[in-house]
Amino acid sequence: MAPQTSSFNQNRRILSTKMASRACLAALAASGARTSAFSVGRHGVKSITALSPSVNLFRDSTPVIPRTPHTFQLHMSSTEAAPTALSAPRVKTSEAKISDELVSIKGWVKTVRKQKTLAFVEVNDGSNMSGIQCVLPFDQVDEATIAEIENLTTGCSVHAIGKIVESQGKQAFELSATSLRLVGSCPGETFPLAKKRHSLEYLRTIAHLRPRTNTIAAVARVRSTLAGSIHSFLQNHGFQYVQTPLITASDCEGAGEMFRVTTLNTDDVASLPRAKDKDGKELPGVDYGEDFFGKAAFLTVSGQLGGETYACALGDVYTFGPTFRAENSQTTRHLAEFWMVEPEMAFADLTSAMNNAESMLKAVVGDVLDKCDEDLEFFAKFFDKGLKDRLLKLRDKPFVRCSYRDAIGYLQEEIAKDPSKWQFPDVEFGTDLATEHERWLAETKFESAVFVYNYPKKIKAFYMRDNDEDGGETVNAMDLLVPGVGELVGGSQREERLDVLVEKMKELDLDVDDYWWYLDLRRFGSVPHAGYGLGFERLVTYVTGIENIRDAIAYPRYPGNAEF
Ligand code: 4AD
Repeated sequence: MAPQTSSFNQNRRILSTKMASRACLAALAASGARTSAFSVGRHGVKSITALSPSVNLFRDSTPVIPRTPHTFQLHMSSTEAAPTALSAPRVKTSEAKISDELVSIKGWVKTVRKQKTLAFVEVNDGSNMSGIQCVLPFDQVDEATIAEIENLTTGCSVHAIGKIVESQGKQAFELSATSLRLVGSCPGETFPLAKKRHSLEYLRTIAHLRPRTNTIAAVARVRSTLAGSIHSFLQNHGFQYVQTPLITASDCEGAGEMFRVTTLNTDDVASLPRAKDKDGKELPGVDYGEDFFGKAAFLTVSGQLGGETYACALGDVYTFGPTFRAENSQTTRHLAEFWMVEPEMAFADLTSAMNNAESMLKAVVGDVLDKCDEDLEFFAKFFDKGLKDRLLKLRDKPFVRCSYRDAIGYLQEEIAKDPSKWQFPDVEFGTDLATEHERWLAETKFESAVFVYNYPKKIKAFYMRDNDEDGGETVNAMDLLVPGVGELVGGSQREERLDVLVEKMKELDLDVDDYWWYLDLRRFGSVPHAGYGLGFERLVTYVTGIENIRDAIAYPRYPGNAEF
């Protein structure tokens, strides 16, 4: 039967029954349409002015094209489900419970199985791994549903209504559906996610669709739980959340691996303002004094310096935001854009920083174990058999603490047994530990998360506090190494003594004038303070057992890739 069309605002036709108007309003609200004004009169809906261009409530074969941007068209099918069914409250599959109430399930179809008298449609709405099985007995659903079943394919979106009942199959419950409508079709011949398992490498090429897969959806849920849990832990421990700038003129880590931010027209090199000396003679390079910020500007590699200024006013603070590093690294642990959690504590030393990092990690891993069981089961099955034991151990066992000097000693002893097994067998005091060294310490030597502390001065950043003992060779710095990942956290006690800090900066050729505000902290009410940075995507890989960091973030950025 041909659908009847009602066009509000166009002909101001008033729907004749109150029931229909309620159904329309409920459906409009459910559709997420932003109605700027509507009124309900004695005869139903009087007028609706909508900000959204179209609403396709009950799909039929005709696409809904709005006549004006402010007009809704409702394609009402005579076989439409009863208005009460349309207003059934939406239930997320993660919260579905057996009940006598009619509910709406909205999601994407995973599989469709048609039999003689009924059809099974697996629907996933992203709220959990298992989704829900909708059972459609042909003698119980409306006519339109039976027609609609023919159009269902993997990947299409649907709205099903029914009751959640005990299941006859292997799942605890299922939706006994009375109606189901296609919301958006998904042509099987062009949809890139067929039913088979795809490699993670392939999924990276369709990063916009990969959250529809079990793996990437589970990573996203665990990531979200971790983020929420980090905020809760820190806020519950009296830390204030501070947002530090992403555009900066200072190189926090002093490693020079920064992305430049400029509005100069680099497409026209000849037009770039040339740097000049005080006599007006041209120098090599560009005059960034003419650039947008009046100086050279970059994307930040860390929020730490800004965090320190707020810690030295609010006591305990943290930042949690994106950071950027232009290192040409194609490893499974490096991204060019990654998120970092950076707690900073006033009146604190290196031990306080280690204690805080240990408690936070234990708490957030505990939260994931409590809240993400289904996803962790999945990761344990397909990616890392020992995942749960590893996480339980991290939660329950104290982390090892080992000085850098001792760590070098252990490594030398081990490498001497068979140097050919190592890619970097030359290890001595002053060596920047490679991933293979870090992983051996965490995975083999200690079989535990391990803080390595008191690193040589010359391989660490300018802001770290000199150790007065230890022959003046080391700084109060620590890295937390964990099995499977290597370095997860890097932190230190900060140098709070003005004269010592200025001396260190000069030794490293840093322009002291550029850091005038950072040095002011040491001029006005300086206090011992300490903090650390936790690489958020590395934490996600650790907790999920996913090997490559490129799968731990929605849209990974790395050398040669900024797609999407
Ligand atoms: O050790 P890093 O460089 O420390 C800092 O940036 C300090 N300013 C933090 C602080 O004290 N507030 O980096 C901290 C952590 C590393 O331990 C690692 O987990 C992660 O950030 N990280 C990266 N993660 C992904 N991709 C990269 N390229 C990363 N570089 C560092």
